[in-house]
Amino acid sequence: MTPVNHAVEIRDLHKRFGKLEVLKGIDFAVDPGQVVCVIGPSGSGKSTLLRCVNLLEQPTSGRVVVHGVELTDRDVDIDAARRGIGMVFQQFNLFPHMTVLQNVMISQRRVLKRGKAEAERIARENLDKVGIGEKCDAYPVQLSGGQQQRVAIARALAMSPALMLFDEPTSALDPELVGDVLTVMRKLAEEGMTMLVVTHEMAFARDVADRVVFMDGGVIVEDGPAEQVIGAPRHERTKTFLSRVLDPTHTDI
Ligand SMILES: Nc1ncnc2c1ncn2[C@@H]1O[C@H](COP(=O)(O)OP(=O)(O)OP(=O)(O)O)[C@@H](O)[C@H]1O
Ligand SMILES: [Mg+2]
Repeated sequence: MTPVNHAVEIRDLHKRFGKLEVLKGIDFAVDPGQVVCVIGPSGSGKSTLLRCVNLLEQPTSGRVVVHGVELTDRDVDIDAARRGIGMVFQQFNLFPHMTVLQNVMISQRRVLKRGKAEAERIARENLDKVGIGEKCDAYPVQLSGGQQQRVAIARALAMSPALMLFDEPTSALDPELVGDVLTVMRKLAEEGMTMLVVTHEMAFARDVADRVVFMDGGVIVEDGPAEQVIGAPRHERTKTFLSRVLDPTHTDI
């Protein structure tokens, strides 16, 4: 058999919280350099899926393989495996008592054991990349939400991840700040970063994603090229969801 070198491979993934089965057998793969957007209604299991990919949640059953390492293997060095995965959440979770530069240096120092000069150089490079190099000495409270989210992205990138997970990175932002964050994400995608992105930004998904996965009720209803899933969805549930997202005044249930 020819080995298939997926960046992420998920097979028959189930996740229960007590009696509630949130993921009911998820199968999909992301290839290196691909951008896959996950869309779906609230409660459909999108965040849980993403959290299972870096084992912030322990799957109930199934396989999660990231860059050839089976994270669901009992003997895996989970800390080592997680180091290659960057995660950006809706809430930025920056340390309020540290400057922007310190926020981007701390995990490099503590987890990767990089020296101070190297960590600072890499932090500055990544802050420049997300367009806030001049804010190195500011504290998070002095930044807009969009700037804070870009710091969070720089912090993740500074760990040199091979895969980036984004969970609704723009949902907490004022509308006029969303574009700056999406521009950074678009640039990352163009540079070839492998990305798994939960988002409600349909224009971004349509333009940037290689594939769009529509989830509902803990299953993948539709998985295909962005222009097909968003532009010409095959399933009724996808159509209903999209009509609601694209036109929030749409009341047809
Ligand atoms: N730690 C937990 N304990 C119990 N139930 C949970 C837990 N985390 C999530 N759930 C439940 O799992 C279901 C899926 O949640 P999840 O956060 O994955 O949905 P989502 O698709 O990300 O929704 P949203 O769009 O609102 O972020 C929900 O019913 C939620 O209440
Ligand atoms: Mg969520």
